[in-house]
Amino acid sequence: MKHVLAIETSCDDTSVAIVDRSGYVHDLMSASQDLAHRPYGGVVPEIAGRNHSETLLPLVEAIIKTKGWDAIDGIAVTNRPGLLGSLLVGVVTAKALGLAKKIPIIGVNHLEGHIFAPFLKDQAYEPSSKLEFPFLSLAVSGGHTTIYRVDALGKYKVLGTTRDDAAGEAFDKFAKMLGLPFPGGVQIDRLSKDGSENAFSFPRGMMEEGNLDFSFSGVKASAQRLVQSLSQTEKRERINDLCASFQNAVASTLIEKLDRAVNREKIKNVTITGGVSANSKLRALAQEWSSRHNLSLVIPPSRFCTDNAAMIGYVGIQRFNNGERDTQYLAPSPEGSLG
Ligand code: KG4
Ligand code: ZN
Repeated sequence: MKHVLAIETSCDDTSVAIVDRSGYVHDLMSASQDLAHRPYGGVVPEIAGRNHSETLLPLVEAIIKTKGWDAIDGIAVTNRPGLLGSLLVGVVTAKALGLAKKIPIIGVNHLEGHIFAPFLKDQAYEPSSKLEFPFLSLAVSGGHTTIYRVDALGKYKVLGTTRDDAAGEAFDKFAKMLGLPFPGGVQIDRLSKDGSENAFSFPRGMMEEGNLDFSFSGVKASAQRLVQSLSQTEKRERINDLCASFQNAVASTLIEKLDRAVNREKIKNVTITGGVSANSKLRALAQEWSSRHNLSLVIPPSRFCTDNAAMIGYVGIQRFNNGERDTQYLAPSPEGSLG
């Protein structure tokens, strides 16, 4: 199989891509629903599902225009984990298109997509170093914060994961406390640039020796108390310092746990993916840490880090070429942890 059409609708981004077996992304088109969810301060599942059903087919039509259906050998679709109503739109669409165009379909785990995003490339980007198995993957987004040991496609071990909030969720909730619009992670990143990261001190969770899990409830509660203790004027005047200090606490915790994982597993190949890997402080800390320890680090550009169909296409085409297929019984599932 040479090219697949990929569909991703697990949360609030509608995305389609055409990917080949080498990981080359011929085309990637995504429609963000951020503005639709902003008035509610978070993703509203019913709105997400309805938006996918309105946006997906026009996106498919648009992406197929350049290459034509004849170039498409199969369809890969995210079928787990995620919001059920959102996943359903992608799965039903993939099944209908598969039947109509007489091409096979395959369901892909969204988390596996994030793990394999560092293998993607396009006209504007190629990874600086080649990623080899085994590698460690920190998948950090609005829904997940997990360190995996990856030995092969389909062979994963969870080394550490969050006990409560995901890191992206913590960023978004902190942003909400400061009155910033959803999704807040990117706003915190922007405001942090003019702030001092040592202005406020925030606790770091699960720091006892040997622990690779994460907890962001402590930093969130401490942030809540701090924000409540400030007047409106103080909050406004110190917003940059608040953001920089919070961002530093979260980013340095992520790197500390990755460092522990590297030492424990004695693996020098590391990747960071998921929406939060767009964070500039996390990227700077990771670069500095990896060169200090002579590690091979790949952090894909943010179009491949945030939810996108290209990463689903890459996993899908590898599975197709291993002889796997799904049938018209393919169903969406809200669950789907790996390892
Ligand atoms: O991977 P993603 O697009 O969707 C999920 O699967 O969750 O990640 C979205 C998350 C949101 O929580 C968002 O606030 C966060 O990634 N995010 C960031 C940044 N850009 C996106 N967090 C911190 N700094 C950023 N620059
Ligand atoms: Zn995701």
